[in-house]
Amino acid sequence: MDAVNHQFLLAARPVGLPKPSDWTYVEAPVAEPGDGEVLVKIAYVSLDPAMRGWMNEGRSYIPPVGIGEVMRAFAVGEVIASKDPDVAVGEHVGGLLGVQEYAVANGKGVFKVDPGLAPLPVYLSTLGMPGVTAYFGLLDIGRPKEGETVVVSGAAGAVGGLVGQIAKLHGCRVVGIAGGPEKCGHLLEDLGFDATIDYKAQDLDAALGEHCPNGIDIYFDNVGGEILDAALAHLAREARVVICGAISQYNNTSAVQGPANYLSLLVNHASMTGFVMSDYLDRYGEAVQQLAGWLASGKLVSREDIAHGLESFPEVLLRLFHGENTGKLVLEL
Ligand SMILES: NC(=O)c1ccc[n+]([C@@H]2O[C@H](COP(=O)([O-])OP(=O)(O)OC[C@H]3O[C@@H](n4cnc5c(N)ncnc54)[C@H](OP(=O)(O)O)[C@@H]3O)[C@@H](O)[C@H]2O)c1
Repeated sequence: MDAVNHQFLLAARPVGLPKPSDWTYVEAPVAEPGDGEVLVKIAYVSLDPAMRGWMNEGRSYIPPVGIGEVMRAFAVGEVIASKDPDVAVGEHVGGLLGVQEYAVANGKGVFKVDPGLAPLPVYLSTLGMPGVTAYFGLLDIGRPKEGETVVVSGAAGAVGGLVGQIAKLHGCRVVGIAGGPEKCGHLLEDLGFDATIDYKAQDLDAALGEHCPNGIDIYFDNVGGEILDAALAHLAREARVVICGAISQYNNTSAVQGPANYLSLLVNHASMTGFVMSDYLDRYGEAVQQLAGWLASGKLVSREDIAHGLESFPEVLLRLFHGENTGKLVLEL
């Protein structure tokens, strides 16, 4: 094949926010698939806060991206050549295909998606990793009960917006914490949240007291830092704190800010549990089926924030850390 593959390689391990020199933008020949492999023309690349962690050296739930390697990312696209008898040319697939235009992948390592059932970006959003994260994080770790108060941070983002909506479907009262009046308006008007807190403009402690007069039963944390600490001070008895992420800490150049208010767990017989979506890979289909059902019946709103052009990847990734996305940030190639 004569086509050229444009790729972003990791050039250096960032200190703080990733900068342009942490990437190399290269051209490479499009590889041929070997036995059992498929060649995918990528249509959409997912931009996820986790990518910042994957750039760091050190022990985590997944090995770091190597220097000189194609940056790891979820993506979806069309199969344009196949040496896997179970995957046909013309089918669409998703997986960890990388920040590039073409990817060769093991046919068993990708999942099929149907653009006739939902637009392709939705498979990186509600019907993909963020959806499955919200689903199991809330239902399995948070264990919501009707009438409980759920507070979610990063509420206008990919995971947070779904957590709030799924909590509403389970009869909970939902308070979303997000940055800015537009995001808060979106939560109330489009996603059906009961109340919002604009953490950039409001006193968090006072607002949590006002909106959670009987305390927080489930705090779903996407951001960590000061917001986690403030939420801990408002826990109800037997509250569940779900540690999904801590985006406020990912670009720290000093130590991670720990929660000073952790003794609230003791006083309230509460728990704080971290989880990784990949713990649930064997139940991925179960979550996607339920999420697709809610989406089809209009019970769930899927919001994608779509940027354009592979070459804009370094700047677009930073939108996550500057709070410039509403819903799932996706790059269209
Ligand atoms: N455990 C897992 O398996 C798993 C899986 C997926 C995602 N996650 C985690 O879930 C979290 C949300 O991911 P996502 O994909 O849904 O991203 P997202 O919420 O769509 O985007 C990131 C948002 O985080 C907020 N943010 C950025 N810096 C912040 C800061 N310093 N303080 C407070 N908020 C800040 C911004 O919203 P505002 O404008 O509101 O500040 C931004 O829009 C991340 O921490 C991610 O690592 C975990």
